[in-house]
Amino acid sequence: MRKDLLGLEGLSREEIEEILDTAAVMREHLDKGEINLDYAKGVSVVNLFYENSTRTRTSFENAAKFLGANQVNIAVGNSSVAKGESIYDTVKTLESIKNGIVVIRHNMAGAPQYVAKKVNARVINAGDGQHEHPTQALLDMLTMKRHFGKIEGLTVAVIGDIKYSRVARSNIFGLLKMGAKVKLFGIKTLMPKGIEEMGAIVCDSIEQAISSSDVVMGLRIQLERQTSGQFPTVKEYFNEYGITMERMKLANKNAIIMHPAPVNRGVEISGEAVDCEQSRIFDQVTNGLAVRMAIIKLMAEEK
Ligand code: CP
Repeated sequence: MRKDLLGLEGLSREEIEEILDTAAVMREHLDKGEINLDYAKGVSVVNLFYENSTRTRTSFENAAKFLGANQVNIAVGNSSVAKGESIYDTVKTLESIKNGIVVIRHNMAGAPQYVAKKVNARVINAGDGQHEHPTQALLDMLTMKRHFGKIEGLTVAVIGDIKYSRVARSNIFGLLKMGAKVKLFGIKTLMPKGIEEMGAIVCDSIEQAISSSDVVMGLRIQLERQTSGQFPTVKEYFNEYGITMERMKLANKNAIIMHPAPVNRGVEISGEAVDCEQSRIFDQVTNGLAVRMAIIKLMAEEK
């Protein structure tokens, strides 16, 4: 395991496999109700989230606790960040009070990478702006691997707000390295120019994206990152671009529905599709816990 986990762009297939294999073991512990483990005893993990989160922050917190680590949460709004302290000074301070692993979510792309170079503490990127969300893509790949027994050869359709999505970027990097085919679809205003240069296939319609896919992954419409004029009404968007049970008939027989959540029901996906048997959306959340346990375990082994 490297010092930091900053993105999937720089990881090799072998490094991704090591994390997924360890996460599969962590998932077995969770399924057996084993949450008093000691793989990370003597390590202190701090969550430093400059942006809102439910799944990522809570699962990092539980992951550290279930592994026997010390765990701290910084409420950025109540910390000295509110007095103007820089991210470097904040992380250096957290390191100085003996936190060995700092989990950072930041609205600015590149913030975890910037600070990781300057501190001895290990840094985990929990999502940086529109750039990367590596633990999300890893949990997505674990979900696929558990369902299909492999990632190589799968066709994964990623549908929605590609432009503002760090989840899409990390999944494209990771899935292509693991030998999957990635199809992308979104309204033109939410599709970054030149995205196909990453190796993904850009589709012309939602039907084309879903047809013959093994995984249909919806992405949240990130209204908070958009400037005006890029998005029709919610109703128009759902009618034209929403993932529905009717459209899922075009996918392969054993296909699954995924979404990183939070979900906008009735916007990028129907409520029925979220709750149906094919949906793995809540299983993804449990796999997120397993992946974050795996990363902390691997880092703790080399402390
Ligand atoms: N998928 C995800 O990152 O969710 P949170 O924003 O709730 O952490």
